[in-house]
Amino acid sequence: MQIETIDRRTIQESDARAIAELLVSIWPKPGRTVETRTEELLNYWRDYKGAEAQFPRSFVVRENGRLVAHADASPRTIKVPGHDLTVLALARVCTTPETRGQGLGQALVKKAFDLVDNGTYPFALFQTKETVRPFYEKFGAAVAPNRFYNAQAEDPEADPFWDPVIMYYPNRGNWPAADVDINGPGW
Ligand SMILES: CC(C)(COP(=O)(O)OP(=O)(O)OC[C@H]1O[C@@H](n2cnc3c(N)ncnc32)[C@H](O)[C@@H]1OP(=O)(O)O)[C@@H](O)C(=O)NCCC(=O)NCCS
Repeated sequence: MQIETIDRRTIQESDARAIAELLVSIWPKPGRTVETRTEELLNYWRDYKGAEAQFPRSFVVRENGRLVAHADASPRTIKVPGHDLTVLALARVCTTPETRGQGLGQALVKKAFDLVDNGTYPFALFQTKETVRPFYEKFGAAVAPNRFYNAQAEDPEADPFWDPVIMYYPNRGNWPAADVDINGPGW
């Protein structure tokens, strides 16, 4: 299996559309069409100014020309008391229903977590559902004990994530126990 890395700073329209089609099929949301998702993917990271090693990227797998698996591995600088921490904001991990159980999801998440294992990021942070939690626990991720908020939101006290389980990787190390300002919307 070949995993492609798509640099989100310079993503092409055809790749943005292919990812958008997969995301819309897995997570249909009112008002979020292939068109709007494609635009978001094309524009969101155009002006990225962070560290080169942490450039935002999508990992994808194609089968017979069709994009069937995706993981978004982008940076987010979160705030914990005393310091800022740029974490790997893992998001939009999905495989098509027809290709599940073939190891594609696992391969993409491993590729993303490699960026933590090789020191590019100190931790990964992401949200998921209770049913998918064991999938991530197998890698050595753990449920985060923190309260999360977004100081920039209209309601800064509100939970900025929408899935119920927030996890971090790796489960060893000095993940903070304090409240975490995710410093922007959930991902
Ligand atoms: C979660 C998802 C990405 C897994 O992709 P996949 O390609 O089927 O996963 P893999 O084939 O790589 O499975 C890897 C391992 O995790 C296990 N696994 C996969 N999905 C699981 C789940 N929902 N619950 C528990 N275990 C799961 C597999 O059994 C396999 O275990 P094994 O190695 O012991 O056989 C896929 O089911 C999906 O797209 N779901 C819908 C979107 C979603 O919920 N994404 C996660 C958002 S955080």
